[in-house]
Amino acid sequence: MLLHVAASLLPENTTIEFVSIADLPLYNADMDLPAAERPLVIKSFRDQLSKADGLLIVSPEYNYSIPGGLKNAIDWASRGEDSPLLRKPVAVMGATPGMWGTARLQLAFQPVFLFLDMKPVFKPEVLIAQAKNKFDAQGNLTDDVARGLITNKLMALKDMILQHRN
Ligand SMILES: Cc1cc2nc3c(=O)[nH]c(=O)nc-3n(C[C@H](O)[C@H](O)[C@H](O)COP(=O)(O)O)c2cc1C
Repeated sequence: MLLHVAASLLPENTTIEFVSIADLPLYNADMDLPAAERPLVIKSFRDQLSKADGLLIVSPEYNYSIPGGLKNAIDWASRGEDSPLLRKPVAVMGATPGMWGTARLQLAFQPVFLFLDMKPVFKPEVLIAQAKNKFDAQGNLTDDVARGLITNKLMALKDMILQHRN
């Protein structure tokens, strides 16, 4: 729901594409071959990321950290000089039923961004706590403060992309 709300609040002259991680196998270095020989599912995942000027990661928090499936996807995209993550602007948003709105997930991402020399947009933080009270049955975000933070975060990501291009 949060991802769809974010997609409805994009800055001007910006588009978004959703990239699914559902079909990725578990990371296996034996399958992580040079570009021309990579399995198609990996190649197409990495190609989709390559085309993006920046990444928006929207996630829950699992055990104070990055959900395994999401970390697996990051790992598949992370290897080689042709990694689509290297030096890429990135922003994280999250929602949880509990009180902390993915604060620990977002911290857990920092070493990943550091290692990949990514350009993370830290502020404003988008931490949707007690999410069950913040979305209606149609998936609309009813918290205006949160909507404002999402809007500003997306603008900050766009600024980071433009700055990075220049
Ligand atoms: C394995 C697992 C671990 C979880 N760990 C946390 C956690 O550390 N902190 C938290 O706030 N919520 C935690 N939750 C609750 C998730 O935030 C909640 O399931 C999520 O918001 C819903 O998204 P999902 O349907 O994609 O799991 C956990 C849920 C699962 C399934």
